Amino acid sequence: MKKAELAIFGGAPEIKSPLKPYCVIGEEERLAVDAVMRGGILSGYVGAWCDAFDGGPKVREFESRWAETFRCAYAVAVNSNTSGLVAAMGAIGLCPGDEVIVPPNTMSATAMAPIVYGGVPVFVDVEDETFCLDVEKVSAAITSRTKAILAVNLFGHPARLTELRRIADENGIYLVEDNAQGPLASEDARYAGTIGHIGVFSLNYHKHIHTGEGGVCTTDNERLSRRLRMIRNHAENVTNELAGGELTNLIGFNFRLTEIQAAIGLAQLQKVNRLVSARKEIAEELSRRLGVLPGVIAPKVRPGCNHVYYVWSARIDAEKTGVPRNILARALAAEGVPVSVGYVEPLYMLPVFQNKIAIGSSGWPFTLSNRSYHKGLCPISERLYEEELLEVHVCSYSLDRRELDSVIAAFEKVFEARDSLMQLLQV
Ligand SMILES: Cc1ncc(COP(=O)(O)O)c(C=O)c1O
Repeated sequence: MKKAELAIFGGAPEIKSPLKPYCVIGEEERLAVDAVMRGGILSGYVGAWCDAFDGGPKVREFESRWAETFRCAYAVAVNSNTSGLVAAMGAIGLCPGDEVIVPPNTMSATAMAPIVYGGVPVFVDVEDETFCLDVEKVSAAITSRTKAILAVNLFGHPARLTELRRIADENGIYLVEDNAQGPLASEDARYAGTIGHIGVFSLNYHKHIHTGEGGVCTTDNERLSRRLRMIRNHAENVTNELAGGELTNLIGFNFRLTEIQAAIGLAQLQKVNRLVSARKEIAEELSRRLGVLPGVIAPKVRPGCNHVYYVWSARIDAEKTGVPRNILARALAAEGVPVSVGYVEPLYMLPVFQNKIAIGSSGWPFTLSNRSYHKGLCPISERLYEEELLEVHVCSYSLDRRELDSVIAAFEKVFEARDSLMQLLQV
């Protein structure tokens, strides 16, 4: 193939028009919203002790349907995964100076949640095949200050949740799952988000199912569910009635999901199996057909796990492709393929950690710990970010058969002509 045929050298792109955005909102959601609008009660909460403390009828119905679907005892609806993570840190009683083990390759909200309570994130590296926490490194990082492991089921693949739960229980600490990306993911037939003491899901616009913004905390523990519900809704007003003598972290936020969002969530829950399966089929086809290209390592699925592919993320072995990942990504983007690289820079490189300035300007809560956040801290995460990960965000596009074929054809075209891409290194 001549280099001019690649779009990056002026040829015609393989994908001629922009891919349609993923859209899961249909007639069911429109009717559900309309019914709430006609009822006129858009949010059913009162932030003081009374029947309405736990929200209106749609929120309550949504929570019980969520608990049924994900097979857990309690579901607590919140207005985002971010607020759910903060509520989870509050519910477990996180105190200033307590350490929380987190992976560095996740959305920033995961590592910020502990800081809200003066907790200190301790970054532990990930496995290079599933991109989730490495359990041996987690064990080695536990100290007398550790209060929790906050595991992320990244891209929709479960972390080693059963092992992490065992480690947490043996050490008398909590396992909290950030399951923003993994609805219906599972390990040994148990849903991700329900193996830790608390799981937190996201219902933001980019996810498999969504309510615009929103989230859900899940737990099997009555006390934690009560504390989550209190923190969601101005806890300080109901400590006399609900706290059972505990006051730690029971000061309030407004993390309440509206009746409209809960009604949308109910409609989305009815479709969750179909919507997740559709993303899975696309990702599995990408793996089957792109995993044979030289140097493309398709996402691995650990035995016993169900991967739900919020993101299809391959690793590029540049020794085998002969071309660095970033150059391949530029050529693929020119062909119209919506790829991104690296996912996120390891979070400890963010200014909040590099400068150790979060709350006030004195360095608190970092002054409560001697943890450092230097480059090189998590070498696997850094390598994945800098050199290897190449992602297709399968939850961002509604790929039909023809579009999926054209994405695959674009990869094949770029890989066939990849020798010609080396000259871009000079540019
Ligand atoms: C792993 C992870 N954690 C947390 C969040 C934050 O979710 P939300 O936007 O619902 O607050 C996201 C959102 O993309 C995420 O992917």
